[in-house]
Amino acid sequence: MTVTATATAPASTICDALVVAIAPGKGKSVTLISQGFSAAQQTRIVEALEAVGASGKSGDITNIPGGSGIKATLIVAVGLGDAKKQEDDEAVRRAYGNAMRALTGRAKVAIVVPKDDANFRAIATGSRLATYEFTTFKSKKPKGAQPAASILLLVPRSVSATERRIANEVNVIADAMNLTRDLVNTPPNALPPVALAKAATDAVSALPVKVTIWDVPALKRAGCGGILGVGQGSSNPPRLVKLVYTPRGATRHLALVGKGITFDTGGISIKPAANMDEMKGDMAGAAAVIGAIQAIATLGILVKVTGWLAIAENMPSSTAQRPGDVITMFDGTTVEVLNTDAEGRLVLADALGMAVKEKPDLLIDVATLTGAQSVALGRRVSGVMSNDDDARDQVCAAAAAAGESMWPMPLPEDLRASLDSSTADIANIGDRMGGMLSAGVFLSTFIPEGQPWVHLDIAGPAFNEKGAYGYLPKGGTGAAVRTFVRIAQTIEAG
Ligand code: BES
Ligand code: ZN
Ligand code: ZN
Repeated sequence: MTVTATATAPASTICDALVVAIAPGKGKSVTLISQGFSAAQQTRIVEALEAVGASGKSGDITNIPGGSGIKATLIVAVGLGDAKKQEDDEAVRRAYGNAMRALTGRAKVAIVVPKDDANFRAIATGSRLATYEFTTFKSKKPKGAQPAASILLLVPRSVSATERRIANEVNVIADAMNLTRDLVNTPPNALPPVALAKAATDAVSALPVKVTIWDVPALKRAGCGGILGVGQGSSNPPRLVKLVYTPRGATRHLALVGKGITFDTGGISIKPAANMDEMKGDMAGAAAVIGAIQAIATLGILVKVTGWLAIAENMPSSTAQRPGDVITMFDGTTVEVLNTDAEGRLVLADALGMAVKEKPDLLIDVATLTGAQSVALGRRVSGVMSNDDDARDQVCAAAAAAGESMWPMPLPEDLRASLDSSTADIANIGDRMGGMLSAGVFLSTFIPEGQPWVHLDIAGPAFNEKGAYGYLPKGGTGAAVRTFVRIAQTIEAG
């Protein structure tokens, strides 16, 4: 699937559905924003829409038949709302996302970009990201309900170089997000740690990205007690993966660390049965790092990027770690494991310890780390914590620009004491109140003074458990990928 910009006239475009933009009209019920139709066609479209009661409100979708010289058999009118809503990129992305999801079974879709193409990127992004489906494990592929296979963006003049560049960027980022979504949606028996490490290798095989994988003996030699401790309960051994993209001429270094728990049962501190299947998505952080590096390297962004994937399966068994065990992390810190379900911070501590040795200009970890994240911020807003206000603001600004909801959260000093252990240097659980923040404070103890570091808790936003929302499908969403690409672009721009 791709989006392609073209200057074909709307009426003569051969397609299965023609998408036009409308808004609430003054006096009349709707105004057609999309241009390029003859006066007669325009009148007919507006009359037909009014006859079936279209409102033009943001998110409203109305279908009418083609005809009057319009080649498409179906016209889909997307309501963009009032002028303010029309300038809101997220409302535009969501409106076109909803339109594309309503359009299943139409292979070739053409979208008439409204007059001034200020929303060109938002339209391309919303429509392209909404056409995802995950059917790998369906033995009979659903017929007649597939999402669109191609999207033409019809612009009124000749296609500009900027439009061509944006369409390419949208395709590259959407491909990367769909890879991340696929990895999150893949059943846990089909994606043990070794398979996730291989998926990372495959994702960058055609790109100038160097891959290094630590197996169990290598993890032992390196002293990665966190990854080994979490992984020891499973017959599927853990892995650490390092991905390095070093474009010639890059002067800045971004490091991304992802939590890759391929399934989180909780271990001996076992989780309740209800919705435990969703814990196949506990590797969404690692999957986002894979997607981001694929997109950044494909776009050729001039920034060195190192990805660290801390991968393990958290299972209860006779070889699993016990509550009360003390393990030694990569940097020598001893940790008392009071709850084996707080495993993400254990695998991340090793990977962070290795990442900081390279002193990157900016270090970001991304993880489905705590249930408390969704309690604090809901299912669609990620939490952003940092030891550096500028770095945190930079990440929040990039998220906003890329269209992701991420909100700054504090790392209160007083929570450090709640992580005190009577036996080891630190315990792996702290105050339950503000559980997202205690987890962040635990991670912060592995970051040396002067190392700019940002922690993203994407527990809610990584996985749409209830169903699709706008351009985000049910299941894996691809959270954080767009933000990472944006951060790399900002760093490149200096
Ligand atoms: N993977 C979970 C967090 C999670 C929960 C992600 C729900 C997505 C949806 C994490 O490993 C975990 O279990 N955290 C515990 C920490 C607690 C034991 C301190 C939690 O949030 O309950
Ligand atoms: Zn857990
Ligand atoms: Zn987990």
